[in-house]
Amino acid sequence: MQYEVVLPAAGSGKRMGAGQNKLFLQLDMKPILIHTLEAFQSDENCTGIWLAVKPEEREYIRGLLEQYRITKVKGLPNGGKERQHSVHSCIKEMQQVEIVLVHDAARPFITKPTISRLVEVAQEKGAAIAGVKAKDTMKKVSDGVIIETVDRESLWMIQTPQAFRFDLIQQAEDRAEAQGFLGTDEAMLVERLGHQVHIVESTYDNVKITTKEDLIFGEAILKHRSN
Ligand code: C5P
Repeated sequence: MQYEVVLPAAGSGKRMGAGQNKLFLQLDMKPILIHTLEAFQSDENCTGIWLAVKPEEREYIRGLLEQYRITKVKGLPNGGKERQHSVHSCIKEMQQVEIVLVHDAARPFITKPTISRLVEVAQEKGAAIAGVKAKDTMKKVSDGVIIETVDRESLWMIQTPQAFRFDLIQQAEDRAEAQGFLGTDEAMLVERLGHQVHIVESTYDNVKITTKEDLIFGEAILKHRSN
């Protein structure tokens, strides 16, 4: 089953504190952004990549795409103030496709089995997101004091990709924009439409590179995979 993917890549990476877009930092001598792009470039079911970028980084990114022979990029729309705005600017430019994946450009370790399963479930049910079961004991805290120990059995840590039928994500994004609603992920916008979102169990190594320690985990994951 074919799909197109939206990769928001227009963040500022403040929590990384690198003084530049963290996606340009290297893991195993290759920019994080390229690791993510290659996961989709090499998937024969992926028919198009939409990359939301900062206008001032567009030319540099074009250079990287050429250097690493990433040929599936169909558009590089301007990112927005928040991640949701960046995703929406891609959705607005897309033509009718059946299935759309939204995936953080900062998650370079996504693998094909997870992608395939998400596409399959989205095609059948409309909406599917990647996640892993919570491993730690989870508690609700207020003013530094525990107010509740939450039953871990029902808690999942949510990742990307998040996969949707195109009409569903388009409607969810348009409605959120019209109502000035800002969600923390795309699924939340779809949930607001009253549509069920299904979970696909992913892997713990599908980490988002956010802070400096994540670069250490990232190098370790790549080393482990190459062995
Ligand atoms: O900051 P964080 O890592 O949570 O962002 C997740 C992804 O969303 C990153 O790939 C980042 O580049 C992207 N993003 C974006 N536009 C924003 C903020 C974040 O495209 N305004």
